[in-house]
Amino acid sequence: MQYIMKGGNPLVGEVIIAGAKNAALGILAAAIMTDETVVIDNLPDVRDINVMLEALADIGVIVERPDRHTVRLNGSNIHSVHVENDFIRKIRAGYYLIGALLGKYSHAEVALPGGCDIGSRPIDLHLKGFRALSAKAKVEHGLVIADSTRLRGGHVYMDMVSVGATINVMLTAVLADGNTIIENAAKEPHVVDVANMLNSMGANIKGAGTDVIRIRGVDHLHGTEYSIIPDQIEAGTFMFAAAVTRGDVTVKNIIPKHMEAISSKLLELGCEVLEFDDSIRVVGKPKTMSCNVKTLPYPGFPTDMQPQMGVALCLADGTGIITESIFENRFKYADELAKMGADIKVEGNVAVFRGVDRLTGADLEAPDLRAGAALVMAGLAAEGYTTVDNIRYIQRGYEDFDEKLRSLGAVIETVNDAKDARKFRMRVG
Ligand code: EPZ
Repeated sequence: MQYIMKGGNPLVGEVIIAGAKNAALGILAAAIMTDETVVIDNLPDVRDINVMLEALADIGVIVERPDRHTVRLNGSNIHSVHVENDFIRKIRAGYYLIGALLGKYSHAEVALPGGCDIGSRPIDLHLKGFRALSAKAKVEHGLVIADSTRLRGGHVYMDMVSVGATINVMLTAVLADGNTIIENAAKEPHVVDVANMLNSMGANIKGAGTDVIRIRGVDHLHGTEYSIIPDQIEAGTFMFAAAVTRGDVTVKNIIPKHMEAISSKLLELGCEVLEFDDSIRVVGKPKTMSCNVKTLPYPGFPTDMQPQMGVALCLADGTGIITESIFENRFKYADELAKMGADIKVEGNVAVFRGVDRLTGADLEAPDLRAGAALVMAGLAAEGYTTVDNIRYIQRGYEDFDEKLRSLGAVIETVNDAKDARKFRMRVG
């Protein structure tokens, strides 16, 4: 499947942002740590979430979907702590099942995580964290195996700021005996959301959102009803789409505070950014200025917005530099943009963008989730037709991406083959 689009239309209108995928993945794992029923709202209907739900069902979790954005989970009948199936290998967040199952059953065996190919993605910090909680943790035969006779709270210093390791250690520590301190913890909004959700289940977590998280272990967790925060990256993607198509888009149902790094870069580019209680309006300008950006853990500029920023710099006046400090392999989209006439020079973790007057449509392949979304933005800003192949990556994290873009005036469609693409071109003219 691919997207085909005809660029040139400024995106105009309002778009409702879905729940945060990366918060939801941690929250789904947390939900199985009680034998009582947990109801989760504002669940994004995206592939990574559905893969996670299938993996949960596979180990005996009762998964009911009263509606598209709500799931009811009951983990009282889990029959296996061995998670090794086709589902789990596809996603990164399968690693949260190690933390959750270890915390609840003192044992977990989970296939090594997959996920987007954006560079080496070690799990040493996760293992270090489990060990600090008195568990044995090792990787054998492609499985992460964690085991403990008695989990005890401990002191974990994260050598690098890691979203995954922070959430995973938090999951285990909530049911360990005694106190845990996580230092140099990730501060991303989704870390806070998972902590809030665990607290609503009876956990005792303090300090989430700062770099020291303190957890007092409790005997058991109970059921809850919880609504997931809006997706900061989906919102940011539409905000940048407004900028590059010189449009006027209001992203609704968001938390503007989470968007600060993104909003401030849009202002530097020369866009107008208007903030309201739970929405932000971005008005793109015919000419934008270049700027430099370095990706950093929250509250810095997110690595998950780096490719979208790259597209904006392709079309800005002057030269802009992006330094990617989180993942080493996140510039694969540069070769694709080059097919559209972009001028980008990548050296290691630095890319230099010389702004060009226009991009021209081309046949592209999505290298990963965020880069894929950025290529679609480029296609919508470019002259003529663009196709973006491998859209399964994009579908991992964006709900109804093409539909939402169409509602803003984009001329875009999902097609199965070259014949459908030809029909689109004939119709659109
Ligand atoms: C999460 O990945 C997100 N994924 C990623 O989103 C996001 O890009 C990333 O955080 C950074 O914000 C999910 O939440 C499922 P990390 P994660 O551990 O947790 C190093 C998207 O597009 N590190 O915060 O895997 C690591 O190599 C995806 O939605 C270790 O060295 O990222 C990296 O340099 C892509 N050892 C840095 O830490 C470890 O044990 C941050 O990674 C763990 C990480």
